[in-house]
Amino acid sequence: EKEGYPHYMIKEIHEQPRAINRTISPRIKDSLPFFEDDNIPDSFFEDCSDITIIACGTAMYAGMVGKTFIQNKLGIPVNVAIASEFRYERPVITDKSMVIVVSQSGETIDTLEALRLAKKYTQKTLSVVNVKGSSIARESNYVLYTHAGPEIAVASTKAYTVQVASMYLLGCKLGLVTNRLSVEDAKEFINNLTKVPEMIKTVLTQEDKVAELTKRMTNATNAFFIGRGLDYTLSMEGSLKLKEISYIHAEAYAAGELKHGTIALISDGVPVIAIATQDHVYSKVISNIREVKARGAYVTLISKDEVITDKTICDVHIHIPPVADEFTIFESVVILQMIAYYTSTGRGVNPDQPRNLAKSVTVE
Ligand code: F6R
Repeated sequence: EKEGYPHYMIKEIHEQPRAINRTISPRIKDSLPFFEDDNIPDSFFEDCSDITIIACGTAMYAGMVGKTFIQNKLGIPVNVAIASEFRYERPVITDKSMVIVVSQSGETIDTLEALRLAKKYTQKTLSVVNVKGSSIARESNYVLYTHAGPEIAVASTKAYTVQVASMYLLGCKLGLVTNRLSVEDAKEFINNLTKVPEMIKTVLTQEDKVAELTKRMTNATNAFFIGRGLDYTLSMEGSLKLKEISYIHAEAYAAGELKHGTIALISDGVPVIAIATQDHVYSKVISNIREVKARGAYVTLISKDEVITDKTICDVHIHIPPVADEFTIFESVVILQMIAYYTSTGRGVNPDQPRNLAKSVTVE
């Protein structure tokens, strides 16, 4: 079943190009988003005052990508809620609010209960779910299945990338229906999305290089992931992945926030994984990296630059092929998944079965 791979996790990392194809192809027609086969009518996207995205863990980090994208591209306010928090606090949503619930399993109890609560306020609920016929899929007003195929490894990989792709398709449709996005821009965006599977294949060829760099990580006790904008949301995902399967304490920080306290923790040899793929804040991240480098951090930088040899910036540079800023996330996340995977195996942990964790959290 592992098709020759040593673990499900690495198999699922490699499955991402296929998984994304399965998610996006049925939802694209004439280079525009198309949800008729999912029975999601255009009226669902009309008259939307604000959006609340509810999920847990990795699914929530996919939601954060959706938030950044929708706010920046469409200017519609988006709130991302941790399901276990949302369900016990006062929901600030109305019948004009759209609620998007994201879950691979469709059975996470906090997410399900949060959905039930949200439905008391709005019927504009949509779930982005992988497992067919699951509770969350059944109880939401609309459902977009991600078609990633079964995800066996506890650490989510392909489920995340298809969730992000789904958020992009939904955001694009929302923009078109509300006239916040031109048909021309939407087509260009969707064409870029269709190139993602090939982009990921290119990134996967760097597997040996990533495996090599993790040798420097296996003895670490702390690690930091930093970035800005979409790269910040991605830092959270990279940090969670490393923690859960390698047991190394990791933190994600918005790069500009480090200097407000956390930089005190940077000392000689502390691994910092920096992501700098967003053009509008690129120089800002680079100067943040210089600050940690000057304090002795061991910096791995992921960026679109061909090469970086300046040792005042980074110790290891990972190049990702230059694509539009919204799409680098699909490339960078594959690098972060492989960093977590090889650090885990390098420490003798079975990444498919990390301690204390279950694939689907159906109890509170
Ligand atoms: C991390 C991971 C978890 C899940 C979370 C939500 O790698 O897999 O954080 O993302 O437990 O699970 P679902 O998506 O099934 O609701």
